[in-house]
Amino acid sequence: MENQIKKIGVLTSGGDAPGMNAAIRSVARACAYHNIECVGIYRGYEGMIEGDFKSLNARSVNHIINKGGTFLKSARSEEFRTKEGRKKAYDQLQKEQIDALVLIGGDGTFTGGMIFNEEFNFPIIGIPGTIDNDIVGTNYTLGYDTALNTAVEAIDKIRDTASSHRRLFFVEVMGRDVGHIALNAGVGSGAEEILVPEEDLGLDRLLESLEKSRHTGKSSSIVVVAEGDKTGKNVFELRDYVEENLEGYDVRVSVLGHMQRGGSPSCFDRVLACRMGVKAVESLLEGKFNYMVGTVNNKLELYPIDKAVKGHSTIDAELLRVSDIMSI
Ligand code: F6P
Repeated sequence: MENQIKKIGVLTSGGDAPGMNAAIRSVARACAYHNIECVGIYRGYEGMIEGDFKSLNARSVNHIINKGGTFLKSARSEEFRTKEGRKKAYDQLQKEQIDALVLIGGDGTFTGGMIFNEEFNFPIIGIPGTIDNDIVGTNYTLGYDTALNTAVEAIDKIRDTASSHRRLFFVEVMGRDVGHIALNAGVGSGAEEILVPEEDLGLDRLLESLEKSRHTGKSSSIVVVAEGDKTGKNVFELRDYVEENLEGYDVRVSVLGHMQRGGSPSCFDRVLACRMGVKAVESLLEGKFNYMVGTVNNKLELYPIDKAVKGHSTIDAELLRVSDIMSI
């Protein structure tokens, strides 16, 4: 059967993540390889509504594999949440004769794409791009590995000051709803305690653990805290709580913030982006729509996008236990 797809649009949406540029490059080059056209859509769904398009060929994506952020820009579009907004976007795609979309982003991006597909029967495929690693159907999302390494590097530096001054630091990392960054960066940097949104370990236990650290001869303590950790207290409130309840602790707070989202992608994220981009384009050409490209046990697999959106990623209970043992 003759391939119906002649032109593919690609966009990035939601929070940027390292590896998004590498994924756009991969999509553009896979299209060039298969002799089909590729169109970059600027500013996510916002740009789709406005028809902010630019043709991409193999050379338009030179030297971006190593760049953080997304050169197509990203946005969170309120208008695309409305039926009228989505109709405008559809009309723009029709005008530009775009036959299918590659959506690079997180669950918000995929939810928008799914609704768009249901309304207009428009072929879509997703590439998971978010530092949070909170999407089911893939072991890794683009940007997660880089963000972890950025966080670990920063915490290592904080440890130098913590141990030189015998201090306790609360370090806040990203993760409003999930603790993957906190748990893995915490274990990777040798944190004494890790607070995540999924489990409330209790404030009493935190105090006990800090006391124990001091009595067993530790010269510094680091508590890694996910933005949305379950104690309900932010890092500043945690500092106050410890200062009120434990004597003799010199406590500091460090919020890593958006520095975790930027920067040059790790080799792992670049390679994953290259693989996922090719898989996304080739799946569309094979007529496979409404999937997300995931990596499971280092093999690329297609996962139904509605399941990816509805699923809840879970924290690694074994790693939580390991973190306990490591901080003895
Ligand atoms: O989705 C990625 C993420 O980095 C979250 O971990 C964080 O809570 C959020 O984005 C911050 O988003 P914004 O850039 O809108 O402040």
